[in-house]
Amino acid sequence: MKLWEGRTDGNTAVAADEFNSSISFDRRLYRADIEGSIAHAKMLGKQGIITEDEAGVLTEGLLGILSDLESGALTVDAGAEDIHMFVEEVLTARVGETGKKLHTARSRNDQVALDLRIYLKEQTEKIKSALCELTAAVTDRAEAHAGTIMPGYTHLQRAQPVTFGHHLMAYAMMFLRDLDRLTDCARRMDSSPIGSCALAGTTYETDRAFEAELLGFSSVSENSLDGVSDRDFALELLSDLSIIMMHLSRFAEELILWTSLEFSFVELDDAYTTGSSIMPQKKNSDMAELVRGKTGRVYGDTVSLFTTLKGLPLAYNKDMQEDKECVFDAVDTVGSSISIFTGMIKTMTVRTENMRAAASGGFINATDFADYLVGRGLPFRDAYKVSGKIVARCIADGKTLETLPLYVYREYCPLVDEDVYGAVDLDACVRRRRSYGGTAPESVLRQATFVREALRK
Ligand code: ARG
Repeated sequence: MKLWEGRTDGNTAVAADEFNSSISFDRRLYRADIEGSIAHAKMLGKQGIITEDEAGVLTEGLLGILSDLESGALTVDAGAEDIHMFVEEVLTARVGETGKKLHTARSRNDQVALDLRIYLKEQTEKIKSALCELTAAVTDRAEAHAGTIMPGYTHLQRAQPVTFGHHLMAYAMMFLRDLDRLTDCARRMDSSPIGSCALAGTTYETDRAFEAELLGFSSVSENSLDGVSDRDFALELLSDLSIIMMHLSRFAEELILWTSLEFSFVELDDAYTTGSSIMPQKKNSDMAELVRGKTGRVYGDTVSLFTTLKGLPLAYNKDMQEDKECVFDAVDTVGSSISIFTGMIKTMTVRTENMRAAASGGFINATDFADYLVGRGLPFRDAYKVSGKIVARCIADGKTLETLPLYVYREYCPLVDEDVYGAVDLDACVRRRRSYGGTAPESVLRQATFVREALRK
């Protein structure tokens, strides 16, 4: 028997039932669905649409279903059409005729729109707190390495010396923006569609604001057609999650590079690596690779929902049932990616000596030498040329800017003095980059304070 049979005999083909059913994935909305229904019953009672006694019976029945589902005394029927039908059917089976009154002044269209918002509001908060923890972990490691010299890269070629702390703080800043985006997204998600009913509102004297308040929403949707067919909040969340994954993926890519023998800047804890089934020496950064790989999957989820919604006429269409799997998958994937990342960051070993050694090659202090000449009165373009020639000479002689004798420097520019060695010293190069947001250790510490304060808000 179908709850909706009447107009048709409800004798759907088995294949159609299976095709139509969403219970295998929307079962995770059970709590949101029951909370929504309890608020609805209370509102119906308060408004006199049903009696207060009936509202009490419905509420008790729904609470019973919730606790039985949670304890395992009741299991979701895999043969049900969706979670909304399942809950209503169990309710009516348990409380009798009154159960049939719950769906007054409501439709599954506003019900599912409500459930998804309740669920995603909660998930957004969870992802935010996981991201806060990751950001704090990155900041802790950055602070500890505020003075650790490593090569900074452009085009993946050694460019200028930076500190490892500075490099890490770049990611902390990305995560702060991600958090801000999620906060913004949650704010728009915080509007209740319930009471929009099927599409046009209702003839009953409902109190939408009361129902929204019971559910902790700060506003109600202003247009019933929009209320049931808007999925912007899910799209926005997916977009934000995609950006988070893009950031994690860049970070993951760096960890993969840094853990290679060629770089050896970082060693991941054994807890976050795997071995090879054939090569005994291998220690693979699988978790980082998986985060990078799963990024594509979250992008796919995002594109999937954009594509599903495009071209849908108002208001509800069954296509919208396809909104759930992609959002659920993205939320799960991002949640686990963030927490695995936090573990990796907290436990990784930083090979400061290898970073230092890499920074000592590649003439990454050449800009500093040019700046030194500028300080001696040479225009920057001329200083740049002289520096290039001196670098070429160093390469020919197997020297570095730190070890090239003063008389050789002077062959190229008589302005060079003994103090040049202080100017090209890597620690000094980094210490001098005190500009706001620069790589100097004091700037890294300031950034760490900035992030910690932002996380407290
Ligand atoms: N399972 C459906 C969904 O996820 C619930 C809404 C069904 N509404 C309807 N008019 N058939 O979208």
